[in-house]
Amino acid sequence: MAHGETITLNDNWRFLRGDVAGAEQPGFDDTQWRQVLVPHDWSIEDLPGQTHPFSKDSISKESQGYMLGGVGWYRRTLSLPDDVAVKTVLLDFEAVYMDAQVWVNGQLVTRHPYGYTQFILDVSQQVHAGKNVVAVRVDNPELSSRWYSGSGIIRPAHLHIVDKVHVDPWGSTITTLDISASRAKVRAVTPVINANDASVDARLISRVVNARGVEVARQEAETPLAAAASRDIEQELDVSKPLLWSTETPNLYTLIQEVRINGRVLDSRSTRFGIRSLSFDAKRGFLLNGKHVLLRGGNIHHDNYMLGAAGIARADVRKVEMLKAAGYNAIRSAHNPASKALLDAADELGMLVIDEAFDMWSVKKNKNDYARFFKDNWSRDLRSLIAAGRNHPSVILWSIGNEIPNMTLPAGASEAQQLAETVRALDPTRPVTSSAHIFGFSGTDEFINKLDVAGYNYNPDRYLEDHEKFPNRVMYGSESFSAQAFNYWYPTYSMPWVIGDFVWASIDYLGEAGLGWSTDSPYPWHLSMSGEIDATGLLRPAAYYRQVLWRTGLNPVCAFIESPQVEGSLPNRLARGQFKRWEQPDLIDSWQALGGVGDFFDRKVVVYSENDEVELFVNGLSKGRKPVNLASEYKTEFWVRYKAGEMKVVGYNRGKPVSQWVYQTPGKPAAIRLSVDRSKINADGDDLVYITAELIDAKGVRVTREKEDKLLTFKVNGAAILAGVGNGNPVALESFQSGQRSTYHGRAVAVIRAGKNTGTSTVEVSTPDLPTASTSIEVSRLSH
Ligand code: GAL
Repeated sequence: MAHGETITLNDNWRFLRGDVAGAEQPGFDDTQWRQVLVPHDWSIEDLPGQTHPFSKDSISKESQGYMLGGVGWYRRTLSLPDDVAVKTVLLDFEAVYMDAQVWVNGQLVTRHPYGYTQFILDVSQQVHAGKNVVAVRVDNPELSSRWYSGSGIIRPAHLHIVDKVHVDPWGSTITTLDISASRAKVRAVTPVINANDASVDARLISRVVNARGVEVARQEAETPLAAAASRDIEQELDVSKPLLWSTETPNLYTLIQEVRINGRVLDSRSTRFGIRSLSFDAKRGFLLNGKHVLLRGGNIHHDNYMLGAAGIARADVRKVEMLKAAGYNAIRSAHNPASKALLDAADELGMLVIDEAFDMWSVKKNKNDYARFFKDNWSRDLRSLIAAGRNHPSVILWSIGNEIPNMTLPAGASEAQQLAETVRALDPTRPVTSSAHIFGFSGTDEFINKLDVAGYNYNPDRYLEDHEKFPNRVMYGSESFSAQAFNYWYPTYSMPWVIGDFVWASIDYLGEAGLGWSTDSPYPWHLSMSGEIDATGLLRPAAYYRQVLWRTGLNPVCAFIESPQVEGSLPNRLARGQFKRWEQPDLIDSWQALGGVGDFFDRKVVVYSENDEVELFVNGLSKGRKPVNLASEYKTEFWVRYKAGEMKVVGYNRGKPVSQWVYQTPGKPAAIRLSVDRSKINADGDDLVYITAELIDAKGVRVTREKEDKLLTFKVNGAAILAGVGNGNPVALESFQSGQRSTYHGRAVAVIRAGKNTGTSTVEVSTPDLPTASTSIEVSRLSH
């Protein structure tokens, strides 16, 4: 192990849901505990004696989607090599929700309260050759969060065994300066640690390689390292004709580093980075590499729906892929640091990120939230946020908080100043922001003046008014209502000092249940229903409208049919008359009979379009042609009588048909159609396939009527396992994990997780009255 070794600790964990005395002791008998895979979330698992995870007795109620936290324990054996005494051994947790205590061989190594920040522990003093035991106690009390947090080791954990002379585990700080077409200066500041008790002379070799693996710059530095000390080594590397990172061309470079003593390589590491420039000002807005970019943004939470909060890398990557495909170019990681996988994906796919630290500071929003720990921990948590995110070109802003409760008071402003200064000292290359709950609030100016860029939650009316008062203030809509997309986007588009808009929410999430539906979210509501992309990944009508507003060209014409009762099993929120402002329109993506008297009246069809005119046809007969433009907010309506068959909308530009959108009325379900997002995955124990099962009629048209929904059974054999199934029904009293799950509007999505052995995995999906559908996945060693 000359160069150090990293082992991902994703398997062989023993887990107990509950508290027990003495479990930190190495000799504790855990043989009766379950084996689990990490990342892991116990809150999403079925509760004992029932086939779902929901509890009527939940104290957190809809905030946590009626799922439970509590205390849990994890234990794992580490077998360490004979020479471990002369090594540095590091335990690296990307996130544990929350209040983790970690013991190694019975010795308490740390208590890390915040559930979303990475922590790396030097456990060299606690380990020995042979068998060692790591124990982690997690304490997630009720009322710890406003949304579904999940509980447990929710992000990957790793073990690093390195030489005593090594690069600091948080790595270098890479900044790119003086960027021009002909060259860029890359500065790497690399802390090298000498944990020996004698000084050494070390050489740090740093090479920049491009995406094809070709070396484009190199620097070497010889430096004495005192005993038991760390030293920052600064190197400048010139890259000629740099390929800049942008949202369209996310070019990346890698800094490959070696620490050598007398020619022998003791440590090596690779860090990806991008070369790009950022600038923010009220006159020109946000410039990326000197070019104006408007942030077409979405807020996301960290959960992965059917996987709960388990932050398996591929699930986070898929989120970025979905947003990119839907037309977004920016994500706000609400309201906690994004995972490594998410940032890596954002770098690779060209997605801009606002990486956010906290939802609260010293004043709590919930009885048991992080405010309990803020005073003693904020500074190390900010350090972690920045150390984990600083080399990602996708990260453009550090957000220190969301709707901080005391932001109108001097104490809030002074906390803002302290946090902002800390961030600027750690990373002077990115501005500091925070969302300020401007809507209905006044007196936040002192707070906002401590920031570099101001986030406005739900208040586009203030953009102009505040600009007159503070002409240099750079603003963006850190949260906006989906249902008022036009009212937010238009000012964003037309006011240079407003750099973007982030809808609440882009992807639906667990917790804050029913937010997009009604003020009343009784048991077992668990999804927010405010996401424009539903929890399974399906675009809802509002997501298509956004594509049109943003002029993405993705679906230049699209049409949806009003259907107030479509949710069927859900309470009729219109009758209640008190739905909230985060609602989604009652539109469906299917041309079908409502049943009952509704079919004797004309129905409203809403058309969104980037084209000049749209024409609606039912079974080939035109029902009219209408203009669409800025004045009509790029939408129009038709009132038409339902007739089974084909409904089509054609978009015209200057009189010529250029786009269309077609529905066929579905018949009875005749088959289950399976589609996979990938057919080959890596045998690393973490890779995933998402399998969508849809009910279709004999002609292949999706059957979305709720009364035709069926209970499906998912069986996974061979080299993979079932990791979760979901259907987007916000009130389903069903298991995410058993493999028994109904369709919802004709659809359910299963997640299959690779094992560590190669082979084929067969997935069978069955229901009593339809032919069984099956598909196979190849699990192999893929090179990265
Ligand atoms: C905002 C808050 C978000 C979410 C949203 C919908 O005020 O910042 O986290 O709670 O409301 O309720």
